[in-house]
Amino acid sequence: MLCFLNGIRAQQVTIGKSSLVGEGIAEFVPAGYNPDETPSLILKSEPQYRKKLPDGWKLFPEFYSVNKKANATLKLEGNISLYGGGEVTGPLLRNGQQIKLWNTDTGAYSIDGGKRLYQSHPWVLGVRDDGTAFGILFDSTWKAEMLTDPDKIEFKTEGALFRVFIIDRNSPQEVLKGLAELTGTVSMPARWTLGYHQSRFSYGTEAKVKEIANTFRAKNIPCDVIWMDIDYMDGYRIFTFNPTNFSNPLRLNEYLHSKGFKSVYMIDPGVKYDPGYKIYDSGTATDVWVKKPDGTDFYGKVWPGACTFPDFTMPRTRKWWAGLYKDFLAKGVDGVWNDMNEPAVSEIYINGYDKTGVVLSGDESGTMPYNTHHRGGGNLPAGSHLLYHNAYGRLMVEASYEGILAANPDKRPFLLTRANLLGGQRFAATWTGDNFAGEDHMKLSVPMSLTLGLSGQPFSGPDIGGFLDNTTPDLWANWVSFGVFLPFTRGHACAGTNDKEPWAFGKDIENTSRIALERRYRLLPYLYTLFYQAAQTGLPVMNPVFFADTRNLNLRKEEQAFLLGKDLLIVPAFAVQPQLPSGIWETLSLIEGDTTDQYQATLKVRGGSIIPAGKIIQNTTENSFDPLTLMICLDEKGAAEGQLYTDAGDGWAFRSGDYALLTFKAQKKGDKVEVTFQKTGNRNIDAEISKVNIELLNNGKIYHSEGSLHGKLTVLMR
Ligand code: NOJ
Repeated sequence: MLCFLNGIRAQQVTIGKSSLVGEGIAEFVPAGYNPDETPSLILKSEPQYRKKLPDGWKLFPEFYSVNKKANATLKLEGNISLYGGGEVTGPLLRNGQQIKLWNTDTGAYSIDGGKRLYQSHPWVLGVRDDGTAFGILFDSTWKAEMLTDPDKIEFKTEGALFRVFIIDRNSPQEVLKGLAELTGTVSMPARWTLGYHQSRFSYGTEAKVKEIANTFRAKNIPCDVIWMDIDYMDGYRIFTFNPTNFSNPLRLNEYLHSKGFKSVYMIDPGVKYDPGYKIYDSGTATDVWVKKPDGTDFYGKVWPGACTFPDFTMPRTRKWWAGLYKDFLAKGVDGVWNDMNEPAVSEIYINGYDKTGVVLSGDESGTMPYNTHHRGGGNLPAGSHLLYHNAYGRLMVEASYEGILAANPDKRPFLLTRANLLGGQRFAATWTGDNFAGEDHMKLSVPMSLTLGLSGQPFSGPDIGGFLDNTTPDLWANWVSFGVFLPFTRGHACAGTNDKEPWAFGKDIENTSRIALERRYRLLPYLYTLFYQAAQTGLPVMNPVFFADTRNLNLRKEEQAFLLGKDLLIVPAFAVQPQLPSGIWETLSLIEGDTTDQYQATLKVRGGSIIPAGKIIQNTTENSFDPLTLMICLDEKGAAEGQLYTDAGDGWAFRSGDYALLTFKAQKKGDKVEVTFQKTGNRNIDAEISKVNIELLNNGKIYHSEGSLHGKLTVLMR
């Protein structure tokens, strides 16, 4: 059927097949869909469960083809709050937004939306006034635009027909669980990855890295990880170390380990064109490079100059790439940072590698031309860059993840990526790229991380303090004070900018930073439990305030305050008249001085919850639970509940039962509150948790008691 779509002649495409592929999850396949033209790189696996769509199913997409380019639209009825779209600027509430899905290295991005960023999440979550919700997933990696209008969600691609999945359930949380059923969840991270990370572009020598590490310990500022940006390499050749400044990486990493630090090193996709350089030679011998349409190697410019790029669509390339990590990690490297993997290419070389580079225009600028050739293999067809660009980072991190795991099978891989695709949370955590040291970017970091969480990626955070430009003491203090409650907490800084370590801004701000980081470290047992839940269910770690009461329409736009899990409300100091949920919320103090320091966020505990907290530790090699503190806030009925998950902190033994999941329940009887718990998992936690402190928060008062998991846990409210 011919029709007009936004004034353009369009061919309507009928739905060829539709079925239920999960509870409340429908798949719609347009007639003529060909998986060899639009392979799925988003789904975890092909859905197995299939049933007829139930009578009364309401949400049907419409498919169109405009000049052979496929679109899909979902018309909306009633008042719907829209969210999601992954890594985006602009507001949390996405009604009336338009984004481009074309992964792009966009430094100092505009805060008001519209710009293309580093990742693609063809996914929108809709929440109705009654709190029920739906989500729509466009299963395509083709270059696209996504519109979230008040009356329709539209996805317009520059490629072939694609499938659509629609989830319709009774709450946004249930819809996000449905998204995880389709695209998978984050893999349970090692405990150290939840500590504080200190980075800079770049700490240039082994001595400087040690100095940074030692300063954390000397000043008693908690920290777990030091990051090595590109300057550790030899001439920006990946998988090498600078022979002068990082001449003995094993020695450096062992030094860091001895002080309770882990190390993360950057690996970019561009391989320096340099015959004689081992990685270039082995990639050439294995025939892994992305090709130009004429079949010759594609050359583009990145840090090292002319580079070739692995074609991650080929199974052989992914295997080769994965294999490179073994020797690298054997140097004591703990984690990997995959950057520039949109891929970012500043110039392309038209006639071989040795001619002057050319800068393309439009959306091809800063990356490979549309017609660059990817050879595919396995279940991926050969295809152009228009098809595979948005999947480049995602395929790279899959290969990196596999390589890191194969190199250290007894550890949980930690990988941070700049580019990714919906579903890529299975392989890597992320950060929000090259932000700017300004108040607007600081505030934006809340809705950006929230939106990633609402798009399947729970493990994210910004460069705290701002990457580009100098950071003022005031900005740092404000940012770190709520940044410590974001799932991924890292300070990072661009070359040429001022020092941005927690002590770089004078004594007062150093103290503010210490308090903020100590608060995070005290909350690690809670945070680790939230990541366990995220890995199990797909629920985000950081949640929008409206999750506390999905029917309260006043909360739908709130993007200054946020929730950590469902029980802890974080109100950053910058928040002006935040919309907060009603009901019982008690103010929480974790560190002496945290409620009087002007920069610290206000923390509030939900009535009905029990938050497990630890003691202040300097890094996660220390035992948090000595003692374990249960922070209890009763609901109107005098009851509360909460969970604590713990395991070895790394490795996979938890999968065969070596974990402890404690579900605590508190009940008020007279003026006494009794706490009981049930434990699942085989882990013996007696040695770890010898003592339990109880802090009951009630009407601004705190009632204390002490006990152990083997005795009675009670607290008197008098
Ligand atoms: C770009 C990344 O976004 C940034 O974080 C990093 O410092 C630089 N590349 C240098 O590697």
